[in-house]
Amino acid sequence: MTNPSPDPSSSPTVIREKPLLAALRRRPAGPPPIWLMRQAGRYLPEYRAVRAEAGSFLDLCDRPDLAAEVTLQPVRRFGLDAAIIFADILLVPRALGQALTFVEGEGPALDPIRHAGDLVRLGFAEFDAVLAPVYDAIGRVSRTLPDPVALIGFAGAPWTVATYMVGGGGDQNPARLWAHRDPDGFARLIDLLAEATVRHLSAQIAAGAEVVQIFDSWAGVLPESQFARWCVEPTRRIVAALRAQWPDCPVIGFPRAVGPLYRDYAARTGVDAVSVDTTLPAEWARTRLQPDVVVQGNLDPLALWAGGAALRGETEAILRALGDGPHVFNLGHGVLQHTPPDHVAELVALVRGWRP
Ligand code: CP3
Repeated sequence: MTNPSPDPSSSPTVIREKPLLAALRRRPAGPPPIWLMRQAGRYLPEYRAVRAEAGSFLDLCDRPDLAAEVTLQPVRRFGLDAAIIFADILLVPRALGQALTFVEGEGPALDPIRHAGDLVRLGFAEFDAVLAPVYDAIGRVSRTLPDPVALIGFAGAPWTVATYMVGGGGDQNPARLWAHRDPDGFARLIDLLAEATVRHLSAQIAAGAEVVQIFDSWAGVLPESQFARWCVEPTRRIVAALRAQWPDCPVIGFPRAVGPLYRDYAARTGVDAVSVDTTLPAEWARTRLQPDVVVQGNLDPLALWAGGAALRGETEAILRALGDGPHVFNLGHGVLQHTPPDHVAELVALVRGWRP
């Protein structure tokens, strides 16, 4: 028997790379992919309904069926290029044994760790079991996500998570003081968190996350020497450990508000992309970052909330500077609670309609 001659009408199936993965691998095609930090959340009425059903924010994080549902809501509504798993950076300290609550309208409250002696309270005994709902939710989302949409996992960077663990909430000074007074003791907390972060991100990738983002929201409060030690160095180790295990999984770093230090961070940590905050000039990001690293960002969340001419003007300026790529369109920080959902729909249309 001879092989049947190929049917000329059926060209080989071309599986298009997901736009987010293509951009992160520096193979941009067409307008930049778009997703938004905190794209799931209280600005969406469908989120508020599920959140009410769950009870508290932490109850929602612990229910894989509901966490998967709120992860998918913004993707369904807006047709974004990525879903980011619904969870929180503070689930890691909780999994290490630190008590965590969210006070309605006030934010997180943790039972503070003040010195190296307190570290005996923390450990990995319950770690995987406490975080299991996150991995379960990732599996659910990954099985139902529309084809071109990528799934992002995340963790807080050791420094930012440490600020909450030591301050007990949103005050960074207790962690900064400890780091100055007892750097060796503080390094033990950072090392523990680096190990926890690798373990948590690896488990997310194993469960189906295709990209991971490391949120260092409080990197910008540190002087240069401290930034190098507490942000860059641990992140470099985390990225190296992930690369060894998952060489194809892109890593996005978000050292918020570090200005010119974004260059050092990109060069030394080895991340594939940097998420840049609202205050970084897009033109600077184009000339000083984009040649070496993929740039994600950086629309002002207040311009998105405001809508209208502010939204259009700011979006177009970013696209003109960075849109040739490699670029991932995003905000400079998370979506704010009072943002009208229609403004997000308009933003997605603006970005999709843009041509380099
Ligand atoms: O981006 C996403 O859509 C995924 C989900 C996500 C949440 N938090 C859900 C959330 C992500 C990626 C985070 C990261 C996070 N959490 C960061 C880093 C990014 C940043 O914003 O700087 C930080 C610092 C936290 C810690 C945290 N979680 C704070 C300070 C607060 C309270 C402030 C607030 O907005 O209420 C949270 C709560 C939180 N995390 C909410 C959501 C949707 C609001 C909870 C609610 O529904 O009441």
